[in-house]
Amino acid sequence: MAWHALIDVSRESGEPLTAQIQGTIKAEISTGVLRPGTRLPSSRQLAEDLGVSRSVVVEAYGQLIAEGYLEAVQGSGTRVAAHVTPAPAVPTLLDNGVAPQVRWDLRTGTAQGADFPHREWLAAYQRALQSADPYDLDYPPLSGSGELREELAQYLGRARGVRTTPGQVMAVSGFAQALALLCTVLPGLGIDHIAMEDPCHHRQRQFIQEVGLRPRPVPVDEEGIDVAALARTGARAVLVTPAHQFPTGATLSGPRREALVRWAREHDAWIIEDDYDGDLWLERGARPAALQRLAPERVVYGGTVSKSLAPGLRFGWLAVPPQLIGPLERVRSQRDLGSDIFTQLAFAELLRSGHFDRHLRRQRARYRVRRAALDQAVRRYLPGARITGAAAGLHAYVRLPHRVDENALVTRALGRSVLVRGGRPHHAHPERAAPALVVGYTAVPRTGIAEAVRALGGAYERQPAAAGPMRCA
Ligand SMILES: Cc1ncc(COP(=O)(O)O)c(C=O)c1O
Repeated sequence: MAWHALIDVSRESGEPLTAQIQGTIKAEISTGVLRPGTRLPSSRQLAEDLGVSRSVVVEAYGQLIAEGYLEAVQGSGTRVAAHVTPAPAVPTLLDNGVAPQVRWDLRTGTAQGADFPHREWLAAYQRALQSADPYDLDYPPLSGSGELREELAQYLGRARGVRTTPGQVMAVSGFAQALALLCTVLPGLGIDHIAMEDPCHHRQRQFIQEVGLRPRPVPVDEEGIDVAALARTGARAVLVTPAHQFPTGATLSGPRREALVRWAREHDAWIIEDDYDGDLWLERGARPAALQRLAPERVVYGGTVSKSLAPGLRFGWLAVPPQLIGPLERVRSQRDLGSDIFTQLAFAELLRSGHFDRHLRRQRARYRVRRAALDQAVRRYLPGARITGAAAGLHAYVRLPHRVDENALVTRALGRSVLVRGGRPHHAHPERAAPALVVGYTAVPRTGIAEAVRALGGAYERQPAAAGPMRCA
């Protein structure tokens, strides 16, 4: 049996064939079934075996080469990259399965270890340990400790404009858990498909599909999600990132906010607001408040410390419409018995003491400088490219001129020791998407950003010349 018998494509699945091939190869590499150096069949051979057109396989291989999973070796075809090491487990909502060693890591979502407030966290944690009574060591309340929920309700109100009460707040292990819980609750409300922004976090789209719900992609423009297109999907739930759309950075405009809320009320629908980086607004003007404040009875608001503190804490929160608290707690009681109490108490202490606000102020100041360095470096070294959306969070979406081959650029960049992701994987139809890069700029020091983008510029210059005038969509 040829090894590629492992690859099975289904025309019924709704997932593009290219993505199916990529997904299988990645999974086999991650689990160690496909070892470094393993030779893959030629694109012609695999296309023939699978009964798909050769361009589908070429595109899948190209993307895997761009992401560093495979390498094209002159004269001996395509192989599993020599430097990859199998991940201990197959990732689901993560983007960290296998990563080559490079000088500049411009991926978004990588750990910001150096910026973590160790001293303040240690003091808050120590205090939580000292003040905990024996009852705190019992199973925690499912939705979180009362003390934390009180602090969070206050914080979310003053910092994000969220209208909630401690009773409607639920502590969770990151937004990932929140999404998993919601995906279990929604079918019970007669909802089996969820509208999602297109582009969006591709792991979220995959995850939703894997748990048996059907994602419905809805286009995003510079004002955020297209609500008229959303209404046409017939969905009764939508997952959105209104403050800073992931990945394009667009902020949902006032009129679109009104329209989205109207849609939810008219269709008895739910809005899931993923406010993943809402506390890291870097623009000078007022930051957009949470969408939730316009319709607390229709919007499930979710936040996380993954961007502001560290993803390793696995900590986040929901502010839930009263109608959904019961169903969410029921589902949760069947899956886990609550979140780690000391993280909750330490975070409550961080909020109470004002250290979290001070930490955010420091982060914003630090990231503003790095973001300005990125803006400058993009203008200088990537002519014709432009950053879209608002300056916020840990990443920027860099739209490239149409002539640029995104995969080729990512591959060449890797050759110059720059690890950066393209924008295409975030699109429901990657083959139709305009070329882009998703650049994480906060894990690299300010001076490194210019150097990293200069190296990227070297790869960019080597792109074939445009046939006509350069267009930037
Ligand atoms: C769009 C988006 N939502 C949410 C999250 C955070 O998820 P979690 O809180 O599970 O770490 C991320 C982190 O990468 C993200 O990019």
